[in-house]
Formats: sequence, structure tokens, C-alpha cells
Amino acid sequence: MEVKLLSGALGAEVSGIDLTDSSDENFNKINELLLEHKVIFFRDQPLTSEQQILLAKKFGPLETHAYVKGLENFPEIVRIKKAPEEKHQWGETWHTDVSYNPKPTKVIILKSVKIPPVGGDTMFSNMETAYDTLSDEMKEKIKDKKAVHSSLGAEAFVKKYKEMEGNGNLDEYSNIHPIVRVHPETGKKILYVNSMYTKQIIDMDKDESDKILKELFLHQERLDFTCRFKWTENAVAIWDNRSTQHQGLTDFFPNRGLGFERVMDRIAIEGDHPQ
Ligand SMILES: [Fe+2]
Repeated sequence: MEVKLLSGALGAEVSGIDLTDSSDENFNKINELLLEHKVIFFRDQPLTSEQQILLAKKFGPLETHAYVKGLENFPEIVRIKKAPEEKHQWGETWHTDVSYNPKPTKVIILKSVKIPPVGGDTMFSNMETAYDTLSDEMKEKIKDKKAVHSSLGAEAFVKKYKEMEGNGNLDEYSNIHPIVRVHPETGKKILYVNSMYTKQIIDMDKDESDKILKELFLHQERLDFTCRFKWTENAVAIWDNRSTQHQGLTDFFPNRGLGFERVMDRIAIEGDHPQ
């Protein structure tokens, strides 16, 4: 097995592991790597949908998306598609997946199906480091505070994107989570707000809440907390959605990244109530 670190902050590209090996021993190795690096990447792993589901189920029960229809034969798999002429794609600013749910996703397994020759890399960011590097003053301000996370409704996931198909649900909803959560497996503290879904701090004046959230979002954007993955086809990313944020770069510009389809298969594993 070879593990190549992608940056000083998080992320590793792993070779010498077969993702179709569903033994507990192999899974434990993968989970250890995941907890250590927070996002791990594998190339040249042409998993079938069944194999991707089998791997995902080792992490726990699978989750279905609130707004998006899964594949016909594999409802657990959401196919994320960007049409060639589309300039936008899913997840194009920093976020944690479905943080508006009562039990936001634990782990995501994303497999590339069709990748443009250039453009559409994915960036990840380490939210343990983001917490650790906050000032003592800020840590004190957000201690024991909670915030509202909103789902933004179907618009944000389906209507805006030509090739994404909705499941009929249109309702916007929200849930409240601690701003600093503790990782259930490592015990580490995580800064758990994100600029896409986190709207307001509870029991705080709106202006003060806006000011603090703005400062936290800016802090979370620090490039020294990140790593970047350049996709190839049949690559697999597995990330810990509790301790990281990510964004799909939308560098699709005329005569450059624009003009190509991008297709990914996503499976989400159910998480727990953030505490
Ligand atoms: Fe995402």
C-alpha cells in the first residue's frame, strides 16, 4: 500500500488497496486511513454500482437525498451530471453535505464516471484545523452555541441544474446543530458551520450572529486548510463529511473548461446527531 499526502492540511491518494475487497480487514484499513486523512482518493477503481453500494454499506446505513431522485435500478446512488454547456455544477461553494438534516451524512463515496479534460477539480478543507486555529476569544464566543442550517429547497439541487431530476419534494426545512461538534470516532473538535447552509446563531442578536458567521466563513476559506483533487475517470473519493468541507470548482470557461460533460456517482452514508 502506498499513501501519498496531497497537502499539509488533509487528503491522501492511496494505491494498493482494492475497493472491491469487502472483507472487514480491508474495510478497517480504509476507515483508519479515512479518519487519519479525512479524505482519501483512489484511481483506476472501476467499481460497478453494486460494488460501490457494497463498499458504502460497510460504513453504515445508506441515506437518500431529500430532493434528488436516485438511479432507476440503484436509488441509493445519485448521479451528479453537468451538461457540456452548463457553467455551473453541484456544490460549487464551500459546504458540508446536507448539514440541514437532523443527522447529516457521515461519509460520502463519490466515483467519477465522465470527467472533462480540464476543470471541475474538487477541493476539501479540514474543519478540525479550522477550529484549532480560531482565536481563544472566538472559541469562547461560540462555545456551547448552536446554529440553524437550512436546506434551501429543491431550487438549489434540481431546478438550477438541467440534468438533475427531482423526487417531487419542494419543501425547505431546517435543523439546529452545535457550532462546535465533537467527532464521534476521534473525539476531536470540529468547526461545524458552513456558508452554504448555516443561516443564524441561536440565542443571539441577528447582527451579532451575522458578524460572527461572516468571520467564521472567512476563516474556513483559508487555503492552507485545503487540498485539491484532479479527477480522472474511475477515481473514487471517500470523505469524512463530519470533519471536512468541500467544493466542486466551476472553472468552466469558454475555450477552456467549458464544453464537456461531467458525471459522478454519489452514495451517502447516514450520520448521527451532531453533538
Ligand atoms: Fe457536496
